[in-house]
Amino acid sequence: MTGDVNYSLRDEIRDYWSARAETFDLSVGHEIFSECERRAWHRLILKHLGPGEGRRVLDLACGTGVVSHLMHDLGYSVTGIDWSEAMLSKARAKAAQRESDIRFLLGNAERTLEEKESYDVLVTRHLVWTLVDPLAAFAEWFSLLKPGGRLLIVDGDFVSETWVTPLRQLLERIAGRTLGPAGGLDQSMVERHRSILSRLHFSRGATAQQVSALLSQAGFEQLVVDTRLGAIHRAQARHMNFLKALERSTQHRYVICATKPTSCSNHSLHQPMAR
Ligand SMILES: C[S@@+](CC[C@H](N)C(=O)[O-])C[C@H]1O[C@@H](n2cnc3c(N)ncnc32)[C@H](O)[C@@H]1O
Repeated sequence: MTGDVNYSLRDEIRDYWSARAETFDLSVGHEIFSECERRAWHRLILKHLGPGEGRRVLDLACGTGVVSHLMHDLGYSVTGIDWSEAMLSKARAKAAQRESDIRFLLGNAERTLEEKESYDVLVTRHLVWTLVDPLAAFAEWFSLLKPGGRLLIVDGDFVSETWVTPLRQLLERIAGRTLGPAGGLDQSMVERHRSILSRLHFSRGATAQQVSALLSQAGFEQLVVDTRLGAIHRAQARHMNFLKALERSTQHRYVICATKPTSCSNHSLHQPMAR
């Protein structure tokens, strides 16, 4: 397909994730492997969004539906959207197995075609760093929320080196294989990932500060950045090799909770940002 002149960066990203769908849930940090981790996620979501009580949430780029199920556990009425059919079929199979009534849609999280002002909450994990046009996506998400609705982003800077990175690279050279974040991926997938990353908006990593600036530009207010994810990381670390856990714990990982104001009459996406 890559010889096709119409084959875009977005197609490449979709196909990359589709190729990872089969083994995606085998990784710690993707699927949840302990009740301790699940409870830590629940606490984090409750802290920022409160219980669902039937409120409508859209899980943007839901992948295999891990976050969709966390939201469902908490009483939200959940829709998940992802553009990879391979990911969605995993999500649907999981929902059928758990008998959860989550609606999964095939579509682009940057242009969802969902009704405006129809969601109370939007949630998204590990999508923002891979967005082609984050400001356009945030404007779309803003439009989907009801006034007063909230967006919860779980993401991180997975690009910048930490003090652990050179140590990992040295050990990888000795071991002759990848040990860190890309562990388990074969070389061709590592290359595809590297090539895609180099062309993304956040090619140097998505910091909470950069993401927050774009969210404000899109009209979101009351931005809260939360980096207190220790309980989740400690629960995950029990199921990871030491080096991978150490590197994750030193990365800039965060949650951003942003609110759509109840009155948006003064907002324009193109207003210059205060610097
Ligand atoms: C790292 S996975 C995260 C999956 C899930 N959110 C989770 O945390 O388990 C990234 C997912 O984003 C999806 N994705 C990336 N860009 C997308 C877009 N513009 N629209 C819909 N899905 C997208 C991919 O297909 C993939 O399933």
